[in-house]
Amino acid sequence: MQEVRVVTPSKVNLALRVGSARPDGFHPLDTVFEALDVHDEVIVRRSDSLSLRMEGEGADALPEDSTNLAFRAARALRERFGAPGLGAEMTVRKAIPVAGGMAGGSADAAGALVALNALWGLGLSCADLMSLGSELGSDVPFCIMGGIAHGTGRGEILAPVYPGRGHAWVLLTNPVGLSTPAVFREFDRIAESAEGAGAVAREAAETERPGSVAAGVAGPGRAAEADVAENPASTRELREAVARGDLQATAALMANDLQAPAFSLRPDLEDVVERASRFGATAILSGSGPTVALLAFDPAHADRLGMRAAIEFPKLRAVRANGPAAGACVAEAK
Ligand code: C5P
Repeated sequence: MQEVRVVTPSKVNLALRVGSARPDGFHPLDTVFEALDVHDEVIVRRSDSLSLRMEGEGADALPEDSTNLAFRAARALRERFGAPGLGAEMTVRKAIPVAGGMAGGSADAAGALVALNALWGLGLSCADLMSLGSELGSDVPFCIMGGIAHGTGRGEILAPVYPGRGHAWVLLTNPVGLSTPAVFREFDRIAESAEGAGAVAREAAETERPGSVAAGVAGPGRAAEADVAENPASTRELREAVARGDLQATAALMANDLQAPAFSLRPDLEDVVERASRFGATAILSGSGPTVALLAFDPAHADRLGMRAAIEFPKLRAVRANGPAAGACVAEAK
């Protein structure tokens, strides 16, 4: 085989519940991923050495060296399962927003693993590729699996959710990206200040001092809550609603614990979610943002939401998407 082209999906989180940081710094998640048909493409050709070229939407901002997750995926695959001399000329064509909370980097790593497995004739199973992918990034296994899945651990432990119906989405992509580690750090900061506030409030209650001290020191979002969850909240009810194909319940149960920290860093995003909700959309931040995802009730509703959003938010791009989409797979091989 001389050339392989793989199509690799983006994702949105129907729910993203986050617990307090583990000793390794990662956060335990209870999440429901949905793969979307906003795709990147990974094209690999036989070569004596490894190289990477980034093309398309936002590609200028991305590295083409070993700091790129797709490059690291290629190296890891070669080291673990290939031979030292194996090479490939890799091209990634981007359509997934960069730093958008839609797993763009993970999608490219997933695409590279699937493409090179075929090009190099390694014969690895999806399970092998997902396991290697989990070492590269928390979302890489899901980008290989696709569909809708329940994610636990740091997002890499997956179980499929079989949806009762498909979903039509409008994605409001933002020209200014947001760093995932920065949003998790802000989540920790808010959680710490909430813990502090909770302790002060408990002390105040014990000594029967009047007034709530907690309200005075609480930061934004979750900081207003006195108790910070050690473990993430359950997404069971949402998964059941998705499986029944009950869109009203699905929309009502969507939740994202990274929304408050993302809003704290980027108040403009809170404004987008609020204004979108006012014109009848169920709006949620996608992952760590800044993309805001609107769940529509049917494709015609999605078209109307898209048109309304284009008028309401001239600085954002409204992109129609459908889910669930397949995981990273070979579209062409020659
Ligand atoms: O795994 P991935 O490389 O996608 O994670 C990017 C960053 O997001 C991590 O370095 C970490 O700061 C944060 N993260 C986290 N808990 C998770 C997933 C990601 O804290 N479950």
